[in-house]
Formats: sequence, structure tokens, C-alpha cells
Amino acid sequence: MRRVLEYQADQIEMVLTSHRVPGRVTGGVVTPRWVSYQIAPEIASKIAKIINLSEEFALRLGAQRVRVSRQGAVVQVDVPREDGQVVRLLNLTGRIKEVPKQTAVLGMDESGLPLLLRLPSPDVAHVLIAGTTGSGKTALARSMALSLAMYNRLGEVQMVFIDPKGNGFDPFVHFGEGGYVLPHLLRPTVSDVHQAIFLLGEMVEEMIRRDRENISEPRVVIFIDELADLMEQGGKAMDRLMTRLTQRGRSAGLHIIACTQKPLAASIGSLTRSNFPVRLVGSVASADDAKIAAGIPGTGAEKLLGRGDFLLVVKGNVTRFQAAYVSEREIGQIIGRMKMAGRVPVAWTPEPQRAALAATGTFGQPGAAPLPTDQAALNFKKKRRGLGLMLGHQLRLIK
Ligand SMILES: Nc1ncnc2c1ncn2[C@@H]1O[C@H](COP(=O)(O)OP(=O)(O)O)[C@@H](O)[C@H]1O
Ligand SMILES: [Mg+2]
Repeated sequence: MRRVLEYQADQIEMVLTSHRVPGRVTGGVVTPRWVSYQIAPEIASKIAKIINLSEEFALRLGAQRVRVSRQGAVVQVDVPREDGQVVRLLNLTGRIKEVPKQTAVLGMDESGLPLLLRLPSPDVAHVLIAGTTGSGKTALARSMALSLAMYNRLGEVQMVFIDPKGNGFDPFVHFGEGGYVLPHLLRPTVSDVHQAIFLLGEMVEEMIRRDRENISEPRVVIFIDELADLMEQGGKAMDRLMTRLTQRGRSAGLHIIACTQKPLAASIGSLTRSNFPVRLVGSVASADDAKIAAGIPGTGAEKLLGRGDFLLVVKGNVTRFQAAYVSEREIGQIIGRMKMAGRVPVAWTPEPQRAALAATGTFGQPGAAPLPTDQAALNFKKKRRGLGLMLGHQLRLIK
């Protein structure tokens, strides 16, 4: 790795020299998918010129895309790693001492810290996961669902899955011998649009009931994959339900986490779109798509790499992160352990609150596997060239 870092740093400096904008690479950070180099320009007024060199950097480094951005008085050049690393959810959770209640694990931020999202916060409430096919939306939604299940009792979090394509959430339910079902699941997964409308209608009724009785627990998280498909097929009825739930759901403890590959489609009405305060944006086709997916311009989401390379956008702030990944097998193993601990869904009955009464203990943390060094953020300084490992029990909580 160090050889690559030094080589790339030299190449970057050579590009600068050949364009007569002298500057030195003073350091950088290695993240799972990118290496970020910091350039201190010798003449501050040349910063704008360096920012325009992204094509030259890419060409010289043989990289498909290079991002160049200004970070105060320095310029940051992000180069994709050829040996991109997977951030495994179960490694991350093993590093986190205590996960706050009703909080989903998203992945690892650029400084190597686990990134978490607390659903009940007013700034969170509902989450739109947008990106093209292969950006990693479904994988991220699964990690969020599993992490919520691992750290919350049924009295704290329950979930429903709506999945028009009908396979993204399959790993959470397994019938047949040795079968298991995610205990937090309120209903069997819904894939038909009419069933989806019925289910969302029930959720609206539940919202009204809770408003009347002034309760907000357990939090019910409605996961929706392929939201655009659903909105297209569901027409006005679907739009009305989505608007009501996203406008007023939070105070009643109802949250929507929806994936869409078509943020541009008129199918997701602007009203519904504007009711998602948190955007998790994966790779998109163009800067225009990026703007609609993120809700703000200039995030650079069109330069993301796919497969879990994401931005978190909340209140105009952008945080880059690599999404946590959990395999189908691992999901099965974790839910299998929940089953052995005696946790089975009491739900799948008409009364959502019945399940809440049957809440059992919190499922324990999985075995803490040590984090491989290449998954941690490594800091390096060009001049000193010492690779220091940054680890710790810190985390970054969006609340
Ligand atoms: N966080 C991730 N880390 C590693 N690989 C990932 C990650 N997310 C997705 N992938 C890979 O990319 C493929 C597509 O991911 P998926 O979640 O199905 O994308 P989408 O739902 O956006 O089309 C997956 O099969 C997986 O191999
Ligand atoms: Mg998908």
C-alpha cells in the first residue's frame, strides 16, 4: 500500500509541476474505497487552477475518475483504490461499545468512524436511499434493518418490508427446515402493489390511533425497496399515503426508509420527496440526478463508485461513507441466534401493538472480530511517511 501511496503522490506532484502550479502533497487518508491526498499549493491563488486538473490527474494515475475539491486552504485529490475494501457490518458492530436505541448503523465515514443514524431525531425521521442499479441501496437497507434488529427489543423497534421486486429482503425470512423469521417483522414481506397500499393504509390508521393516544413506541420502520416502481403503479392512492406518513409519521413513531433508483422520475412527487430529510446517495448518472437525489447541488454524487460508496446528506451537510455490508448468510446466522434465544415474531396478526407487549430482551452483540488494518482509516504523512493506525471506540452519531 505504501508504495502505491508514494507513487501516486509523486504522480500528482508531477502533474502540478507540468501545469506550473507548484504544490506538495502533504498527507492524506486511506479509506476503504478511496485514497485522499492533500495538496498545499505554494501559491494560494492557484487553487482554482488545480481544481480543474481532475482529468489530468485521472489520466496520469490511470484512474477512471478522480475527485478534486477545495478543503479550506488545501486541495484534496481523491483517487479510487484498485483494491477497494468491504466494510462488514458485523466487524463494525463489534467495534461499537454501545449502539443507542432506535439507531441504524450506516457504515464507516472517511475518518474511519462507524456512522450511525438515530431515527426518532427530528432531523432524521425518514430516509431516502437513492442511486442507480448496483450503487448498493438494497445492501445498505439490509444493514440498517439488521443493525436495528440487533440492538432493539420488539417494544422498541418493529419493521415491515415492502419489496415490489420481491427479493431484496428475502434473507430475513427463511421457510422450511431450520427456518427463521426476523422477530421484529410485523407482517410478511409485501410485494404486490395492492397489498402495499393496504399495508400503508393500516400504517396511516395506526398513526392516527397513536396520535390520539399520544404514543410513539415501538417505532415502526417501513422499509420500501424500489419506491419509484411502487409510486408509478400505485398512482394517487400511493402518493397520498406516502405524503401523509412522511409528513406526520415521526411523532407517532412511524419511519420510512425507501430506496429508489429513479430520483428523477416524476413518479416520486416533489411533495413526498421533500418530506425525506435524510438522503443516502449512491452513484448516480449525472450531476442533475445527483442534485435531485441529494436535494442540494454540488455534492459530486455522480463521481461515486457504486457498491456502497455513499454520501449522507442531512441539513445541507454532506458526509462521505462506505456502506456497511452484511451477507445473506450472516443475516441468517444472526436471526438464527435470535431464534435460539427464544425470540420469535408474535406479530403477523392484525394488531401491531400485540407484538409490542411480547417484547423480550435485547439480542446481544455478536462476537467482536478485530478490524483488519486495511479497513481502518490510515493516516499518512508524505514527509514522515509513518503509517499510523487510527482506531478507537468512538463513533459518529447523526441525531
Ligand atoms: N456496501 C457494499 N459493500 C460491498 N459490496 C456491495 C455493497 N453494496 C452493494 N455491494 C455489491 O453490489 C451489488 C449490488 O448491490 P445492491 O444493493 O443490490 O444495489 P442496488 O440495490 O442499488 O441495485 C451487490 O450484489 C454487492 O455485490
Ligand atoms: Mg436494489
